[in-house]
Amino acid sequence: MLNISAVNKTYLSGDTSLQVLKDVSLELQSGNSLSIQGPSGCGKSTLLHLLGALDNPDSGQIVYTPNQQTTINIHDLSEIQADEYRRKHIGFVFQKFNLIDCLSVYDNILLPSRLNQSEHQDYIALLIDTMQIAPHLKKLPNQLSGGEQQRVAIARALAHQPSMVLADEPTGNLDEDNSHIVSQLLFDTCTELKTTLIIVTHSAQVAQQATVQMKMHNKRLSV
Ligand SMILES: Nc1ncnc2c1ncn2[C@@H]1O[C@H](COP(=O)(O)OP(=O)(O)O)[C@@H](O)[C@H]1O
Ligand SMILES: [Mg+2]
Repeated sequence: MLNISAVNKTYLSGDTSLQVLKDVSLELQSGNSLSIQGPSGCGKSTLLHLLGALDNPDSGQIVYTPNQQTTINIHDLSEIQADEYRRKHIGFVFQKFNLIDCLSVYDNILLPSRLNQSEHQDYIALLIDTMQIAPHLKKLPNQLSGGEQQRVAIARALAHQPSMVLADEPTGNLDEDNSHIVSQLLFDTCTELKTTLIIVTHSAQVAQQATVQMKMHNKRLSV
């Protein structure tokens, strides 16, 4: 369960301040998917950053209960705790893939699980198979098409078996066909693995695949 409660976030630069999130609240059951749509600059990435403990809210609470034994106050983690939280629980997928150019596809995929010392060969082989990237493992990322790179990035995001994936416009750089293939794989795989998925997207077609669909408007989330 993810519980976001009355979260506020304001950016200060110089003597101007910009409130981006105002009393954002939301409850999402574990294993469900949530899509967030909204115009550029409305605070979608900011919210994902807060959920990934990459930044802190000014006020409000973000409480994550990945299982019955664990409760994480995401809004209140030290840097070391935030790092551990991300390594254990979170997979990130970005619009620009963010693969490491000088590492092979295979080494890119293994990186997070190596950091976590949680390399499960059979599981990773299954991910590679699911994402249909087996022929590309020895290549460098720039030898792949955009759709292939994003499928590698999804395999990387899932490699350490996170309980939640945060995807920020994962199909934003893909054509319509690849957008469809990649989003379908992302939703299906997360459902199969019972991984909570939060996906920010400009595509209504992608958004409607989520179990919970919300829009960001006037600094708030609403259905
Ligand atoms: N680190 C930051 N410092 C100051 N302003 C920021 C920062 N990050 C984002 N913003 C501003 O906050 C607003 C929301 O940004 P963002 O969350 O990236 O929007 P979205 O992802 O919906 O396009 C934008 O106006 C952006 O310029
Ligand atoms: Mg954004």
